[in-house]
Amino acid sequence: MSLLAASNLTKRYRRGGKTVIAVDDVSFHIEPGETLALAGPSGSGKSTIARLALRLIEPDAGRIEFEGGDFLALRGATLRARRARLQMVFQDPLAAFNPRATVARALDDPLRIHGIASRGERPRRIAELLERVGLPADLASRAVHEISGGQRQRVAIARAIATKPSLIVLDEAVSALDVSVRGQILELLLDLQREQKIAYLFISHDLGVVRAVAHRIILLDAGRIAESGEARAVVDAPRSAIGKALVAAAPRLDRSIRHNAP
Ligand SMILES: Nc1ncnc2c1ncn2[C@@H]1O[C@H](COP(=O)(O)OP(=O)(O)O)[C@@H](O)[C@H]1O
Ligand SMILES: [Mg+2]
Repeated sequence: MSLLAASNLTKRYRRGGKTVIAVDDVSFHIEPGETLALAGPSGSGKSTIARLALRLIEPDAGRIEFEGGDFLALRGATLRARRARLQMVFQDPLAAFNPRATVARALDDPLRIHGIASRGERPRRIAELLERVGLPADLASRAVHEISGGQRQRVAIARAIATKPSLIVLDEAVSALDVSVRGQILELLLDLQREQKIAYLFISHDLGVVRAVAHRIILLDAGRIAESGEARAVVDAPRSAIGKALVAAAPRLDRSIRHNAP
């Protein structure tokens, strides 16, 4: 059974009297511990699919099964409990945090809200999370806005893993980082996946990164699936017009990142 199975997802937006079909009859599945990449040009529907999968927005049509149940039917406490298993990291973690909050507070919230640890246990859990993502313990008292972008993305990852998720949606999560920091964050994500069998829905416009970290890939074009398959095979020899165009436009593909063998 797939960890997440989306069938026939459609999402339309009304904008200035016109209808935009952001996602058009898209189906995909993610297996436990797998990285599925979503790639495609700007505006092709990647972030809309991310928001649908997280149930931040509702589809106009389609189904989502998550951990064996109808995800779109969940309400209230059962939805909140299931949400702990499905976390997210976005491109700009500052937008996701209260910037004046301390790092400790940003990590305390999920532990408290999801009832993961008692008040007395939480400082130790926060220290463990910081250590796990490679951050020094004394970062806990710093404000989120005063740490570096790479550190902030590590805090976002620590917060995502705090609730022991089975799936993390990463929407351009490493795109804003410079190359060396990006490589370190990708290594951390691969380590966490091996250790905790977390699956990733990995959204990126960077095919070099996708080739390095994803098992399978879906290429989107104007809200539809143009091509899908094993990530390296698709990036090395795309068959679709959009795949060929994306590969031609990509800077020299970075093969230096260790690949996460399936
Ligand atoms: N909230 C919104 N209101 C209106 N149109 C939107 C909204 N969000 C996305 N869109 C449109 O939906 C399409 C897909 O957008 P998006 O999913 O953000 O693409 P991507 O992440 O691949 O760049 C685009 O045409 C975009 O302009
Ligand atoms: Mg996007």
